[in-house]
Amino acid sequence: MSALPIAGSWVLVTGASSGLGRAAALCLADSYKAKPILVGRRMESLLDLQSEIEARFGIASEVVEADQNTEDGRARITAKVERLDAIAALLAAGVTSVGQFDANKISDYHRLIETNVLGFTDLLARLVSIFKRRRSRTAILAISSLGAETSLPYQAVYGASKAYTNTLIQALSVELKGTGVSVGAFLPGGIDTAMAAQSDLRWGRMGLMDADRCAALAVKALVSRRRVTVPGLANRLTYFASRTLPRHLVGRAAALPYRRPE
Ligand SMILES: NC(=O)c1ccc[n+]([C@@H]2O[C@H](COP(=O)([O-])OP(=O)(O)OC[C@H]3O[C@@H](n4cnc5c(N)ncnc54)[C@H](OP(=O)(O)O)[C@@H]3O)[C@@H](O)[C@H]2O)c1
Repeated sequence: MSALPIAGSWVLVTGASSGLGRAAALCLADSYKAKPILVGRRMESLLDLQSEIEARFGIASEVVEADQNTEDGRARITAKVERLDAIAALLAAGVTSVGQFDANKISDYHRLIETNVLGFTDLLARLVSIFKRRRSRTAILAISSLGAETSLPYQAVYGASKAYTNTLIQALSVELKGTGVSVGAFLPGGIDTAMAAQSDLRWGRMGLMDADRCAALAVKALVSRRRVTVPGLANRLTYFASRTLPRHLVGRAAALPYRRPE
C-alpha cells in the first residue's frame, strides 16, 4: 500500500498524555510534520505536551480532554476529527489489570473492558464512518499487544481484550477494502512505560522496548497503512513461535516475565 501523505495534516492520537501515545505524538510532529490531536483525561499532561510540540518543532496541535469510556468523550473526540479534517488516527488509549484472575475486583475488569473493548469499539466505528466519507485516503492504527497472540497469564483479561482488538481489526480490514480507509493492528511486546511498571515484572525494565523507538515504528506502520505490525526482532520471533508451537507452551512462556503472586 502506498504511504499516506500526512505532512501538514491532522492526526488523532488517543492515550497522548503518557507512554506510547505521547511518544507517537512527538514523532508525528518531529519526523512527519503532522499536527497531532492530543486526547486523554489528564489535561495538564496534554497541555504540557502541546507546549513541548510547539516549542521544539513549531507544529500546531489540539487538545481534547475526553474519557474514552463515556459517550460524551467519544463524541467530543470525533467532533474534533470532523472539524479538523483529520486523515489518520493512532489509537493508543488502554488500561490493564495485573495479578491472579480471581484476585482482581470486577470493577477493575469493568473499567478495562469499557476502555479497551466497548469505548474503543464505539470510537473506532465513529472514526470509520467519518473516514469513509472522505475523498482522500485515511488510516487507523489500533495499538494492540503481542499478548493477544500468546495469551497473558497474570494479565489475562487485558490479553483477552487485545485478542478482541486483533480479530476486530482483521475483519474490518477486509470489510473496508476498496473504501480508501485502511485499518491496522500494532502488536508490541513489553514497552518501557507506566503500564509496564504496573505489571510487577520479574526482570524489571530489562527486555522492554524503549517507548520512543516503539512509537517511531507505530507511526511508520500507520503511515504505511500496514494491516499487522509486530515491532522488533525479539517480538517477531515470539509472534512466529506463538503461531507454530503448541498453545499451552506459548502460554507458559508468556507467564515467565511475571512474578507469581503469593
Ligand atoms: N506498556 C506495555 O508494555 C504495552 C505492551 C503492549 C501494548 N501496550 C498498549 O500500548 C498502549 C499505550 O499504553 P502505554 O504503555 O503507553 O501505557 P500508559 O502510559 O499507561 O498510557 C495509557 C494511556 O491511555 C489513556 N487512557 C486510559 N484510559 C483512558 C480513558 N478512559 N479515556 C481516555 N484515555 C485513557 C491514558 O490517558 P489518561 O490517563 O490521561 O486518560 C494514557 O495516556 C495501550 O493500548 C496498551 O495496551 C502497552
